[in-house]
Amino acid sequence: MIIGESVISSQAQELDPWKILKAFGGPGLFVTGTNTDIGKTTVTAALAGAFASLGIRVGVCKAVASGCPKHPDRGAAGALANDDLISPDASIAARMAGLDPSNEELRPMISPIRYAAPVSPHIAARIEGRPPDWKSLARAMEYWRTHCDFLLIEGAGGWLVPLDNRLFTVADMACIFALPVVVVTAAYLGTLNHTWMTTECIRHRNLALAGIVVNHVPDPPDMAAQTSVEELPHLVHAPLLAALPQVGQDCSGQIPATFVEALKPFAMQWWETVKVRGKQ
Ligand SMILES: Nc1ncnc2c1ncn2[C@@H]1O[C@H](COP(=O)(O)OP(=O)(O)O)[C@@H](O)[C@H]1O
Ligand SMILES: [Mg+2]
Repeated sequence: MIIGESVISSQAQELDPWKILKAFGGPGLFVTGTNTDIGKTTVTAALAGAFASLGIRVGVCKAVASGCPKHPDRGAAGALANDDLISPDASIAARMAGLDPSNEELRPMISPIRYAAPVSPHIAARIEGRPPDWKSLARAMEYWRTHCDFLLIEGAGGWLVPLDNRLFTVADMACIFALPVVVVTAAYLGTLNHTWMTTECIRHRNLALAGIVVNHVPDPPDMAAQTSVEELPHLVHAPLLAALPQVGQDCSGQIPATFVEALKPFAMQWWETVKVRGKQ
């Protein structure tokens, strides 16, 4: 009876992200967004390009990824395991960081937890019968602690997306990693409310808000876009890091150089403060 109980309690600990994950402890940013498809990967990749262009060794990590396609050389028909899947988000950001996403040893570091189902991670975990392997995420963090100068972590969906069946959220994960947060939002009618709700929730958790990036700005901007780009930084009391235009429907194949350029002044200024803090 006692042995049974201790087995159950050690299994519970295996699954408990609060017991397994730790603060990152090095310089970096956590990229979240007001929604899925808002541009987190695009901005993470552009930030990776901007920091890398300064000669900084950039690490990237898509902590928990759902909707992952099958690895071309892995996985027979039937249930797909973590290693049978690849995370396109991690690959896009890795390339911009100057890393090789096809490197099999690097893959668990840039995308430690992968699901196939294109739904919230906690539902994908349920459907695929695999709770998130938090230890593999902890190993990825440990790796980046010594293998990069600056880490960019991309969340999943928005701020309060559940990641497991205990409803451990992206917000909880960001709190543990304790990195300043970048919020990606977009220029549409309704964005003031969505963006403010997100930044309020981030501040409620006592996390630093590095700034916001307004993505999908129509070119030329309509009235909603123009006014939201102007209003948002005041409303949420955070710097506007960049306003990125809509460039076609999909820029995942090639992150525009103009996006990297737009984020370079922020990267330069942020890196200066990282260096100053490092010397203190
Ligand atoms: N400014 C933009 N112009 C054109 N396409 C964009 C822009 N930002 C993002 N996209 C495209 O929109 C889709 C969703 O963006 P993505 O960065 O993957 O969002 P998220 O990571 O938040 O889900 C992708 O196909 C991406 O290439
Ligand atoms: Mg993404």
